[in-house]
Amino acid sequence: METINNPQELQNLCLMLRSDGKKIGLVPTMGYFHEGHLSLMDAARKQCDVLIVSLFVNPTQFGENEDLDAYPHDLERDSRLAEEHGVDILFTPARDDMYFEDHCTWVEVPDLAANLCGKSRPVHFRGVATVVTKLFMTAQPHIAVFGQKDWQQLALIKRMVRDLNIPVNVQGHEIVREESGLAMSSRNVYLTAEEKSVAPNLQKGLKKMRDQVAGGETDPAKLKADLADFYAESIPGCSVDYIEIVDPENINILKKVDESALCAVAVQVGKARLIDNLLIKV
Ligand code: PAF
Repeated sequence: METINNPQELQNLCLMLRSDGKKIGLVPTMGYFHEGHLSLMDAARKQCDVLIVSLFVNPTQFGENEDLDAYPHDLERDSRLAEEHGVDILFTPARDDMYFEDHCTWVEVPDLAANLCGKSRPVHFRGVATVVTKLFMTAQPHIAVFGQKDWQQLALIKRMVRDLNIPVNVQGHEIVREESGLAMSSRNVYLTAEEKSVAPNLQKGLKKMRDQVAGGETDPAKLKADLADFYAESIPGCSVDYIEIVDPENINILKKVDESALCAVAVQVGKARLIDNLLIKV
């Protein structure tokens, strides 16, 4: 495995690889790998000749009071894991190499950023769309794989690629969970043992909601209120950022659950802001 820090060097190499007919796969990450990241690498590995993983904690997608400086990192461990999972190139640019001091060009997908995480994190998706565009331009991938835990992010990137005619096949990969049901996340390290023992109720609540829908409940207000009650009882001290039921493709809020729906939640548990979701097929 080769490690490249310089975006220009990576772009030159990738343009050459493409002209040699190689199929490039990209897995964009912010590092501190867990099984979720590794499953994305494995999925991409099967479909490409050259697998690139980017590891960049993108400052522009963090708001002022968010955890940019505290974001966990362990480059040595990540390099070892990437190599074990067949990664050919680990791209680890410095902040200054990704963003010029006077950077002023942004990619925005406002309709898909309006709800869910976009509401409480107003700059987040502009930062994501911009850095993913930069990564696509740099690594020139044919395919790129993202996790479905960040469903809104995946939907937004798919829309961006469609709207801007970016020739990348964007794929979503199912959520990887711990045995307890807690979705894998780099931010799970912020949880205390006690918080970790109740955090799986995030997914339990989503499944209860799915059962309610299967039982005929179609009113989002009732479903959301019941889920909020369940979280208040089963995750002591948690604070719900949102519980929403949306159209899985355009992230519009549904007025009735009578079609395919995504229930998405964000809940602050101690220092960790946890997100999770469940697709409900009616
Ligand atoms: O999902 C993430 O880890 C990040 O949002 C991404 C896609 C790597 C962009 O920084």
